[in-house]
Amino acid sequence: MPLTKIIAIANQKGGVGKTTTAINLSSALSILEQKVLLVDTDPQANATSGLGVLSKNIDHSIVELFQGNLEIDQCVINTQNPNLKIIPGSIKLAEIEIDVKTPNLNRLKTALDTLKNKFDFIIIDCSPSLGYLTLNSFVASDSILIPVQCEFYALDGLRKLLSTIKSIKKSYNKNLSVEGILMTMYDERLNHNNHVISELKKHFKDLIFKTIIKRNTSLSEAPSFGTSVFDYKVNSEGSTNYLNLSHEIMKNQALNKETSLGKNISQIMKETEETILLDPCIKDRNLDNFKVFSQKDKNFDKLYGCTKKEVAVHLGLAFNDIHSDVWMYRIRHKTNLFRKNYLYLYFYKNKVNLVKLRWFKLS
Ligand SMILES: Nc1ncnc2c1ncn2[C@@H]1O[C@H](COP(=O)(O)OP(=O)(O)OP(=O)(O)O)[C@@H](O)[C@H]1O
Ligand SMILES: [Mg+2]
Repeated sequence: MPLTKIIAIANQKGGVGKTTTAINLSSALSILEQKVLLVDTDPQANATSGLGVLSKNIDHSIVELFQGNLEIDQCVINTQNPNLKIIPGSIKLAEIEIDVKTPNLNRLKTALDTLKNKFDFIIIDCSPSLGYLTLNSFVASDSILIPVQCEFYALDGLRKLLSTIKSIKKSYNKNLSVEGILMTMYDERLNHNNHVISELKKHFKDLIFKTIIKRNTSLSEAPSFGTSVFDYKVNSEGSTNYLNLSHEIMKNQALNKETSLGKNISQIMKETEETILLDPCIKDRNLDNFKVFSQKDKNFDKLYGCTKKEVAVHLGLAFNDIHSDVWMYRIRHKTNLFRKNYLYLYFYKNKVNLVKLRWFKLS
């Protein structure tokens, strides 16, 4: 089994949250120390611009790959986040979609295969169609994540999509699975949203992600600043939702990875990234001292041995999932202009057993 998991985000229905999910899921996974590649196969190239990559500043996009003019690693470019790279999309993809000279549904798969094991996750943002580019993405992927907007016509087109997935599975990619159906733009105040959710649960049961993405203005505003929601408003509900989704996906992936062979990806990352490890001082742990903890101070070592409840009382839950064993806090710092600081807390049996401070340099 390969270490890299390739997930296509697809629904031929337009405007259901595919690109928002592609950008923020990729960013959330990368914040959680996963190496991520985002591939933009949509001629609208919204994932590309949403991450602040401007077409005038790039030499190559995925178009050259489909034209057979370039190797895939020449199309990979860096983003502001060291764990997240992107293969940009371009309006020129529209020509390929309409006017493909020699159709080859394995084109993207063959290319992405050469990048396997360089990334933990490859996320593909698909266009709202079931055309040549989307089918290429399905052949290249291990699974498909289907965002569905919580509205009356949510079920429309879902059966068509699932039957397309079935045919690809039969003829081209026997290992293809559905990662899950993701409810997006949920508004609990609207009765019909709740009705749609219960209908979908009735039809698709375990295929529905536990995480639901709520309607949140930070999610719609962030792309105009060329950033993910984490750089735009880290304390928003949108951040919480997408971190929870990434936890859910990583949990599924961890179950699959147990059978994997080869070098552990997280170990490779430890060797290559700037990490500051703080010494544990469990003996000195004293909850009275702990009360004066502040994210401005650097007395993070007081967190060793604390329970999730204690950490939540003193630092707030912020956007962390109480069920997760990795929590993250953004730390504001004077050098913020040049660096982004994150505090990671790792829990084992409900107690903090590792505290890491990581400084991501802005490129
Ligand atoms: N959870 C959310 N809360 C608020 N606005 C959202 C949310 N998710 C997406 N949006 C907004 O809804 C619109 C459509 O979202 P998005 O572009 O992600 O959909 P899409 O499925 O990729 O669309 P397309 O089919 O055109 O590629 C965008 O303006 C986006 O900012
Ligand atoms: Mg889109």
